Amino acid sequence: MEHLIRNRVMALSQATEYAKETSALTVGERYGLPADEVIDLSLNINVFGPPESACSAIRDRLGGLYQYPDIELRELKRRLALRHNVDPAQVFLGDGLDEVLKLIAQTTIEPGDEAIIPIPTFPRYELEVSIMGGFPRLVPLTDTYQVPAEAVLAQVTPRTKLIFLCSPNNPTGVPVEREVVRRLLELGPAGPLVVLDEAMIFPRDPGMTDLASSSPNLMVLRTFSKYHGLAGARVGYAVGDPNLLKYMEIVRPPFNVNLLGEAAVLGALDDTTFLERVWSAIGEQRRILLDQLSAMPGIRTWPVETGVLTFDVTGTGWTSPELTEALASRGVVVVDCRSYRGLEKADLIRISIGLESHNRRFLAALHEVLQGGRLQ
Ligand SMILES: Cc1ncc(COP(=O)(O)O)c(C=O)c1O
Repeated sequence: MEHLIRNRVMALSQATEYAKETSALTVGERYGLPADEVIDLSLNINVFGPPESACSAIRDRLGGLYQYPDIELRELKRRLALRHNVDPAQVFLGDGLDEVLKLIAQTTIEPGDEAIIPIPTFPRYELEVSIMGGFPRLVPLTDTYQVPAEAVLAQVTPRTKLIFLCSPNNPTGVPVEREVVRRLLELGPAGPLVVLDEAMIFPRDPGMTDLASSSPNLMVLRTFSKYHGLAGARVGYAVGDPNLLKYMEIVRPPFNVNLLGEAAVLGALDDTTFLERVWSAIGEQRRILLDQLSAMPGIRTWPVETGVLTFDVTGTGWTSPELTEALASRGVVVVDCRSYRGLEKADLIRISIGLESHNRRFLAALHEVLQGGRLQ
């Protein structure tokens, strides 16, 4: 049936193969481990579970499931606008940020248009631009994983529609400096749209949403999938210029945020108790992980303030694919960052900061692998 497939999609089919091979299920099958013995630290989610505030709000809405949600998502927009001190017209909602990214590309990218993407970063930016027939212009981050503003500016052409920034960046965890965003916004209203993905920021951190409300060329993205513990509810949003968002509303499928996702978010939005508990648990586990990892010979870490942690194993004498596989054989699933564009030759491993018992098993497995020497 390949004759039916668009060339751009055919070319991308290889790029999506990787994710299927590294799930906890396939690791369990490969090494004959029961599913409940496999610890999955590869998922960039909040492993502390969903907040009860969201669950009870969902239960309360179940009787309304025969209805469509509010097509304009007025209450959600109003509450998010309040949170960020903006007008509801400056808020756009999607079925997770994955959909918001797709709708940004669908609204802005004509075949042949360009988007600048500092790499390594979240792979969907490149995919969504490519699916629309656009050309990603990839710019390497600096050695310390900072966005090189001048190198990004040097790539801007009259066809540049988008500049994607991710803060804290997935997978490095390094935030984007405010000065970098300001510098890119100096291109002015006729310049490209700077899409600043703050998926991995702590939700109570204002980030750069204040800049988005005063700069039409900046759109800031947020999600409920991470600290809020609602990845399955699929709700993400953008704060941006109403004149741009009104076109994204034309492209948005009606009812893209479903009734239960809407209820979950409305229930959890002001649940500061849950967020603070998660923030402090992740912070404590992050400190332990960073301490222990940096004490292991050959492992390089750097400070991060988010729910994932990436470390460099070059100095251990192991490559990241070898270490990932050795950990998998012990029932611990991590991300070999060679799957990220720009890290194909590096030896970085990403974990999500899990429960204390999971982190302990991960550290013990890593210690055992490194102590045992290379399997030849
Ligand atoms: C940087 C970044 N942006 C966007 C997303 C997608 O988030 P959502 O679950 O809201 O689709 C992720 C998910 O891992 C992410 O890491």
